[in-house]
Amino acid sequence: MASTIVYGLCMVISWAMVLMSTNAGDPDILSDFILPANITNPEGNFFTFTGMRVVVGSNPPPNFKVTKATKAEFPALDGQSVSYAVLQFPSGGVNPPHTHPRSAELLFLVQGSLEVGVVDTTGKLYAQTLQTGDMFVFPKGLVHYQYNSNAQYPAMALSAFGSASAGTVSVPTTLFTSGISDDVLAKSLKTDVATIQKLKAGLAPPKP
Ligand code: GLV
Ligand code: MN
Repeated sequence: MASTIVYGLCMVISWAMVLMSTNAGDPDILSDFILPANITNPEGNFFTFTGMRVVVGSNPPPNFKVTKATKAEFPALDGQSVSYAVLQFPSGGVNPPHTHPRSAELLFLVQGSLEVGVVDTTGKLYAQTLQTGDMFVFPKGLVHYQYNSNAQYPAMALSAFGSASAGTVSVPTTLFTSGISDDVLAKSLKTDVATIQKLKAGLAPPKP
């Protein structure tokens, strides 16, 4: 009887482990690659992404800018569990706190210096100032940011993701532009509705 229970428990635990490991990243595919419906006979250009050419050697943008190569921009990534983003920071440029629900992010600083930080699930902040050539890993799902505090020089980084579609959840945008009521936000952030409205106005897209 006891051995049957132990056996049953072991089965449940092993299934839980299998399920957890299969949920750890993008699903595996059963073919070499996945073709979009409109392509039947792919050539080399299907596996080529030219959307980063504009970034190489370009002037720094006026504000923080991210250029992505995920499966949305580069369909050949579908099923391959990888993607890239190029992050450009003018002096003072900030990438506000955000998370990627489906992947860790491995950032490689190719130009300038950059303040980065990540907060774990206990609320502990791990901050660092990176120099050109440094890498930093933001673990999957944790809130993180980047900031170029250098008043003179721009910074540029290349970020790799272990998902073709890592997803981005911006903390300020999620809180203040998703429609959560002013009352809920004021109570949650222990402030008043006027302050919440001021914060929302700062994030609202400019009126045409
Ligand atoms: C940077 O952290 C990014 O995810 O784009
Ligand atoms: Mn990120």
